[in-house]
Amino acid sequence: MITILEEEKTVDPAAAGPLQHFETLALHAGTTADPLTGAMLTPIYQTTTYRQEAVGKDKGFKYSRSGNPTVSALERRLAALEGADFASCYSTGLAATTALFLALLRSGDRVVCSQAVYGGTVRLLRQTLEPFGVETEFIDTSDSAAFAKALRKPTRFVFIETPANPTLKLSDLDLASGLARQAGALLVVDNTLLTPALQRPFDFGADIVLHSTTKFIEGHNATVGGALITRDADLHEKLLFTRNTIGAIQSPFAAWLTLQGVKTLPLRMARHCENAWQVARFLERHPRVTELAYPGLESFPQFELAQRQQSAGGALIAFEVEGGVEAGIRLMNSVRLCALAENLGAAETIITHPVSMTHGAVPPEQRAAAGITNGLVRLSVGLENPDDIIADLEQALDAAAEGELS
Ligand SMILES: Cc1ncc(COP(=O)(O)O)c(C=O)c1O
Repeated sequence: MITILEEEKTVDPAAAGPLQHFETLALHAGTTADPLTGAMLTPIYQTTTYRQEAVGKDKGFKYSRSGNPTVSALERRLAALEGADFASCYSTGLAATTALFLALLRSGDRVVCSQAVYGGTVRLLRQTLEPFGVETEFIDTSDSAAFAKALRKPTRFVFIETPANPTLKLSDLDLASGLARQAGALLVVDNTLLTPALQRPFDFGADIVLHSTTKFIEGHNATVGGALITRDADLHEKLLFTRNTIGAIQSPFAAWLTLQGVKTLPLRMARHCENAWQVARFLERHPRVTELAYPGLESFPQFELAQRQQSAGGALIAFEVEGGVEAGIRLMNSVRLCALAENLGAAETIITHPVSMTHGAVPPEQRAAAGITNGLVRLSVGLENPDDIIADLEQALDAAAEGELS
């Protein structure tokens, strides 16, 4: 039994020569058939504790708050997919963000953060960490001059989300890592919206990659979870220490479901992107759509940057319709196939009103500066037939217009 668990623990996906392609890693990296039974899938180790042979002699696991074999299997898989060495998984994406901040920030430290990021990240920095003496400057990290200026002051780390949720503005990863390095700051990239299937922040010099695995990584609207991935052993140790201290580890069942979901990540991302491109083309041509952002369209202002650092446009579209907020709300209330819900990255298409849902905690001034307008609609294009998604949006756009006439 010792060897079984030890073997499991020491599988080194990076060293597994034949597993070099992303699709193969998504299926195999970090796991082997269970040596005890031959079970193809890593078991759900639903256990609190681990029997020790003698004092000081364990099989690598002591207590499931500090580590669990199912969670470790997912961690090996995610590290391999991002092209890194270490990953740690958390109960939610925000638990990962919390562990990151608590592990690396001290009172008096300064963070430079993208103005448009997930609302929960803003709330955590502004409402929880600021009272502890952590200062955050939220800036438009798509503006290179503003970015460089913000990094003239001593900065502990730079936190960017690209594309940004929900505006889809991009930050230049090359520029961000150059500026962070010059300033002696760490670069953290929230790669939730694209996943390593479409964007590889470590190739551009990121120090830490963050994921809400709740989204595309697990991909089926079945779990909440988070991950922090790095190539730096010291950073990883600090993160593990903090995760254990605050008790934020992922559950074995969520890790197991995520291990199953991630197997199809490359296939799903390819189809998400194809579908999103078709939906974006439909919206681009629709006379009642007044604003549209989709990084895969040539009309996207940062299309050239998207081509440089992403391998496709992604699944998210942000748009506004004629008639402003009221028309946008009528549209969201009129969809039938698309689900009006708070999430993104699932197999099902989800439509969201960021101002009242995901970004309600962002102060109105910051929302305005970041371009998160009251009428903004966020669409996470799913895996349905794109004609059905388009037909649903078409009838909802008609319903939104009819409401205006009546
Ligand atoms: C880009 C991004 N990062 C982090 C999070 C937080 O993840 P979770 O909801 O799993 O806590 C979210 C959630 O929507 C997100 O969209």
